[in-house]
Amino acid sequence: MKSCIDVIFQRRSIRNFKNDPVPDEILFQLIRAAQYAPSSWNRQPWRFIVIREREKLKTISGLLPYGKFLSRVPMAIAIVASERESDLWLVDGSIAAQNLMLAAENFDLGTCWIAECDKEEIKRILELPEEFHIITITPLGYPAVKPNAPKRKDLKEVLFLEKFGKGYL
Ligand SMILES: Cc1cc2nc3c(=O)[nH]c(=O)nc-3n(C[C@H](O)[C@H](O)[C@H](O)COP(=O)(O)O)c2cc1C
Repeated sequence: MKSCIDVIFQRRSIRNFKNDPVPDEILFQLIRAAQYAPSSWNRQPWRFIVIREREKLKTISGLLPYGKFLSRVPMAIAIVASERESDLWLVDGSIAAQNLMLAAENFDLGTCWIAECDKEEIKRILELPEEFHIITITPLGYPAVKPNAPKRKDLKEVLFLEKFGKGYL
């Protein structure tokens, strides 16, 4: 079992996958991990749609300007949230999605946050009720290629003491 901090540092956005299927027992654990995310007033406005049909993955990939690789992934999960259930649906849904992605890393599974998309058309394909918004559509599977971590800003660029701009370091 990896430590939490290992999971955080080892997670990468994965865009190339093996064909090996993800066992349901692991999938359910990922969804449970997402459900254990904090949410405003514990409203849990999220839902998770597993997408495995090849034709559907292909159609959706065509609606993602930066997610064409979705046509080739073993499966994807659309994480959606209801504006009726929570006015903070975007925050709630995003935290749940991050929980799912970190849990996936724990099982050596790859994910990738894909946000930009033709939202209306994808809503139609997934038959989302009007009140639901797409948070992200992430592929899920065993990585074929795990890239190195893209460089992060230096700590001194992002860490301040007492007031904005006053260097901690
Ligand atoms: C809000 C958001 C939108 C993103 N959209 C895309 C996307 O459309 N396509 C893609 O391949 N990656 C997307 N990414 C993944 C980022 O490119 C990636 O997280 C970043 O380069 C850091 O790499 P890492 O996740 O491997 O640490 C997105 C990430 C976030 C948080």
